[in-house]
Amino acid sequence: MSKFNVNLHQVIFSLSDALDLVGVDQIYHGKRVAYIAAECGIALNWNKKRLDDLFLAAILHDCGVSSTAVHTKLTNFEGKNVGNHCDIGANLLQKRPLLAKLADYILYHHTSWAELQGLDLSEAVKFGANCIYMADRVDILMLNGLQADANILASKDSIRRQIKAKSGRWFQDELVDSFLQISASEAFWFSMEQVQNSGYAPTWVADHSAQAIDFQELKDIIQIFSHIVDAKHRYTAQYSEGVAKLSRYLGELFKLSEHSCDKLELTGLLHDLGMLRVPDNILARANKLSPSEYFIVQRHSFDSYDILKNIAGFEDIATWAAQHHERVDGSGYPYHYNEQKLSIEARIIAVAVVFMALSQKRAYRDKFSPQQLISELNQQAQAGKLDKSVVLMVENNFTACLKVAQLLDDII
Ligand SMILES: [Fe+2]
Ligand SMILES: [Fe+2]
Ligand SMILES: [Fe+2]
Repeated sequence: MSKFNVNLHQVIFSLSDALDLVGVDQIYHGKRVAYIAAECGIALNWNKKRLDDLFLAAILHDCGVSSTAVHTKLTNFEGKNVGNHCDIGANLLQKRPLLAKLADYILYHHTSWAELQGLDLSEAVKFGANCIYMADRVDILMLNGLQADANILASKDSIRRQIKAKSGRWFQDELVDSFLQISASEAFWFSMEQVQNSGYAPTWVADHSAQAIDFQELKDIIQIFSHIVDAKHRYTAQYSEGVAKLSRYLGELFKLSEHSCDKLELTGLLHDLGMLRVPDNILARANKLSPSEYFIVQRHSFDSYDILKNIAGFEDIATWAAQHHERVDGSGYPYHYNEQKLSIEARIIAVAVVFMALSQKRAYRDKFSPQQLISELNQQAQAGKLDKSVVLMVENNFTACLKVAQLLDDII
């Protein structure tokens, strides 16, 4: 397994853009919550280690949400029905050695202080989780306020009043005091419109330099995000994993370098990140999409690129992900590149994507049988859409491909 020279904070900060797409009209919710939480932590003189943990937990706090429907429920300030997104998110983190220590921040980010203070948790976790809860509610109040008046300052006083009213019951009183202190200035609210590079974000990203990270360790973090994509819709469960494994296997058959195969696998996991922006009802549609709905779906590969291009060391991954719906005759999207401009890796990903999509059921069609699958791939190769050499490689190793994509029991 090869090593990747990346800044892990930059990887997570950029990939969390994908989470922020889920709320569609609430872009950057996670980053605003992280901004607010960190400003409170700074006002309370928390040390750097504590601030770093708080910030990381806050940008990931809603990683258990992948559907817009769930996110909409969370926009009610007093709403008690938060579903199971705290458990799902905590579970995702729990399995990862680098992030397991933050699982409780996520698990308790909708738990009131009245309940939280009696639990057997460290002070850092109790205060951190409660700080994220308060920051989350501030952001929800702000977003609700923007619907009535587009000027962010218009709801400032009412937000401060509503948070103060929950002091001691929902939120620990020192946390509330710190919020009242930082939110008194207009600058605090204006910075909320620029959270990508305001407050603690630049420090958190820049303080962590690029270092050689094992492929396996990097993949472990990246799977948080691919699981979210795969959880968005029941028809796509295991989809990104399948594309990743199959692309890697094909890369190995083409005798690409180990590092290229590692990058292919990561591209498979990340290529559909942009799908998180597509509203659930469009993905679940059983009949034909209207032209405007199709435009929304069609921009997802570019949205994936938009997120991945910000990560130094991910240049190839961003490019191949951007091109996963390109076709060798130039009829794909979003660039309309043809054979000459598409690398072997991009052509492998494109075939793996079609392979996995056809082998799974969709709202509008049944899954293809293995015979239908290989004949469809061949047809698309003959028609000049998919790369012939890649499809031939699939055909010559068909049973192994089904096995690698973990479809053997499933599809037959
Ligand atoms: Fe939440
Ligand atoms: Fe949230
Ligand atoms: Fe796609």
